[in-house]
Amino acid sequence: MPVQRNKTEADITAEVLQRFAQTSDPRLRQIMLGLVNHLHAFIKEVELTEAEWFQAIEILTETGRMCSDKRQEFILFSDTLGVSMVVDLINHRKPDGATESTVFGPFHRLGAPELPPGGNIAHLDKTGTPTLVSGRVLDLDGEPIEGALLDVWQTQSSGLYDSQDERLKELHMRGKFRTDVEGRFLIRTMLPVNYPIPSDGPVGAMLRKTGRHPWRPAHIHFVVSAEGYEPVTTHIFDRTDEYLSSDAVFAVKDSLICDFVRHENSGGEAARLGIDPPFYTAHFDFRLKAATEQGSTVLDAQQRLAALGARG
Ligand code: BEZ
Ligand code: FE
Repeated sequence: MPVQRNKTEADITAEVLQRFAQTSDPRLRQIMLGLVNHLHAFIKEVELTEAEWFQAIEILTETGRMCSDKRQEFILFSDTLGVSMVVDLINHRKPDGATESTVFGPFHRLGAPELPPGGNIAHLDKTGTPTLVSGRVLDLDGEPIEGALLDVWQTQSSGLYDSQDERLKELHMRGKFRTDVEGRFLIRTMLPVNYPIPSDGPVGAMLRKTGRHPWRPAHIHFVVSAEGYEPVTTHIFDRTDEYLSSDAVFAVKDSLICDFVRHENSGGEAARLGIDPPFYTAHFDFRLKAATEQGSTVLDAQQRLAALGARG
């Protein structure tokens, strides 16, 4: 097509597409052509003003400025726009029975300690309600997976992750647990609480201006992995939480909702571990699908996040 110098809105889109059409990597070509098509269509549809275009540049610039070794504002944008969950759903189309995945979020840290069964990830939390989370890691036939690794993290009862708590110099509310021969695990923690995502940056401004709240329902994060199986990045959510239907990052799936049961009397594992009532128990079984193909894994994603400077 000859280059048009008397440009119309349609001409410029066609010319940009033509410029990318020669990209030799077919996947990159597909992505760039799709990006240009949709971006131009969006701008034409809303008839973006120059002031709005400049505001978008300012927001992106501020988003970059907010990123640090403790903060990933771009991921937060992706999460709050629902993009992370669309990517999750496309990339983890599960066979029936496998535990569903959900967002990774920006608060994972590498280097959590490996703890024995019943190990306490909440040793510095003096205000939460003790909670025992137990369950099994199984394959899709219901057979136990021995030696599966559960990488667990959650907020303190204050609603803050350790990396957000300026008083804390060490890892807290994080641990790694291995399943026993019957696929069982046991984690001692505090009852998870709902908490607002960081809202002192451009994502917070976007939420306020659009009348959205920043809250996430109470949850515990897991990456469950085992040799020969596809790892799953997921959460378990407290069934009683008021934000289950309006999670700021759209991450709730019905299959991940779990009963946290309150106990007023001592007994069972809690008594053995010296936990006084009141305490909660939650039970959740994870089901992993056998690994089929080579490719990027959840663990690769963790490494990439670490390389971005998101906590080592
Ligand atoms: C989280 O659950 O840690 C989280 C996920 C997405 C955005 C912010 C926080
Ligand atoms: Fe979280």
